[in-house]
Amino acid sequence: MDHTTADPSDPTAARPAGPDLSSLRVAVIGAGNMGGPVARTVLAAGVRGQNLLIANSSAQSSERAAAALGATAASSHAEAVAGADVVVVGVKPYQVLDLLSELREQLPSRAVVISLAAGVTLAQMEAALGEGQPVVRAMPNTPISVGEGVVGLMRGGAVGEEQHALVHALFARAGLAVDITEEQVHAFIGAAGSLSAFVFTIIEAMTDEAVRLGLKRDLADALVQQTVRGAATLLLETGTHPAVAKNGVSSPGGTTVQGLAALERAGVRSGVAAAMAAAAQRSREMTAD
Ligand SMILES: NC(=O)c1ccc[n+]([C@@H]2O[C@H](COP(=O)([O-])OP(=O)(O)OC[C@H]3O[C@@H](n4cnc5c(N)ncnc54)[C@H](OP(=O)(O)O)[C@@H]3O)[C@@H](O)[C@H]2O)c1
Repeated sequence: MDHTTADPSDPTAARPAGPDLSSLRVAVIGAGNMGGPVARTVLAAGVRGQNLLIANSSAQSSERAAAALGATAASSHAEAVAGADVVVVGVKPYQVLDLLSELREQLPSRAVVISLAAGVTLAQMEAALGEGQPVVRAMPNTPISVGEGVVGLMRGGAVGEEQHALVHALFARAGLAVDITEEQVHAFIGAAGSLSAFVFTIIEAMTDEAVRLGLKRDLADALVQQTVRGAATLLLETGTHPAVAKNGVSSPGGTTVQGLAALERAGVRSGVAAAMAAAAQRSREMTAD
């Protein structure tokens, strides 16, 4: 899948061919659990390894991450951002504003600063960097590392149309990239950012039960994972409503309706809703902190 769109209500709408990224200079400051997959995504989109500079917390860590990614280690933040068109900030949220204040005098004025941090607003970023610096918040989930993730993009006031197209081009290989507002980010975290972890937990539960029912674990893994992928692909590719797809598997008095009734009695809907609402609520609290 390779959808990128500006309109969340129409996630399959194609964007026009994006800009050429082969000479774009990108710095990633903090290529950890999330910054690393984002670096991989921009390389897949066409940024060259020699133009992708990595700065982690130490020279050793920067070199290790750059080697693993096929990118270039920078010896300092200043070296990473010198001449950069785009700077991705992948440090922990509590570090972001101090880092931006430090970078303020070093950043090229046209460089687009993309923060991955939960809870750090566009206004806070603009205040730390100085007005006029183009800033973007990107909220990805980890399946971007296999090109099947989702990233929500929030655009600061100084981001021009070309820069907006550039940011979408950088995430063209992430899976699905959608523009969202900062108000929507809390719901987005429930519905995408944290949702992959909920799905992993449900997959784990289904696999354990398949083993309890007598299947070997490798067979259980394969059956459950392919069925989850197949169910999502069927909905995506046919546009079928999930309730219609579910009813299509449910013969009167058959196995599936028995299982579905047990699922409802166990409260699966309220459990899923509670998990998503709790993630969204925590996101609101982190923004208010
Ligand atoms: N993990 C997720 O699923 C997820 C999802 C969406 C958004 N995010 C956001 O992504 C950001 C990073 O989270 P994470 O889970 O990726 O954390 P992480 O794995 O701990 O990565 C943080 C990275 O920042 C580097 N770093 C720390 N101090 C630094 C400094 N002074 N200068 C340069 N680099 C420094 C670390 O370098 P070392 O490796 O050398 O320690 C590490 O590579 C957070 O803001 C989080 O809100 C994460």
